[in-house]
Amino acid sequence: MALPLVCAALLPAQELAPGEGKDVVERVCAPCHGVYNLVRRPRTRAAWEQTVENMRGMGAKGSDADFRIVVDYLAKAYGVSLPDKVNLNQAGYRLLTSFFALFPEEAEAIVKYREENGPFRALEDLKKVPRLEYRKVEAKKNRVEF
Ligand code: HEC
Repeated sequence: MALPLVCAALLPAQELAPGEGKDVVERVCAPCHGVYNLVRRPRTRAAWEQTVENMRGMGAKGSDADFRIVVDYLAKAYGVSLPDKVNLNQAGYRLLTSFFALFPEEAEAIVKYREENGPFRALEDLKKVPRLEYRKVEAKKNRVEF
């Protein structure tokens, strides 16, 4: 019976990680789409807060206390933390993507531009990167270094 094994390997994890508030998350967040959306991509606490707000807008039901528990659980079990500052000449693709909320191809374009043209010296240099929406980086101008 090789088939069930193959299927299981292809399926994303459908169980939430253990942690305080797991039961609340299952009650509040699983009814519409199961837990797949929750385990798929770790996010920062701020991003989870935003996601949970969006889901309230979509009709997720619970008390204010429930939603606080949900954010705490998700930030802990499926969280990423970002540094205070990012060095635009050293940051890798993954960090660029999550720190500036870039599309993968935008982060790739930054790395490629840097490799081909040498280090960035000022924020404005990022304007020359093709396919990058400059204002996304500009939005965090106080948190970049070179
Ligand atoms: C009333 C139904 C409903 C409930 C309850 C619900 N969601 Fe959703 N969720 C949706 C719909 C509709 C979408 C949009 C379809 C999509 O984008 O995948 C979605 C999409 C998502 C996504 C993928 C989109 C993204 O932002 O990456 C995440 C993550 C998510 N939900 C998290 C949650 C969390 C956390 C909770 C609990 C607070 C929750 N959902 C509760 C309906 C619901």
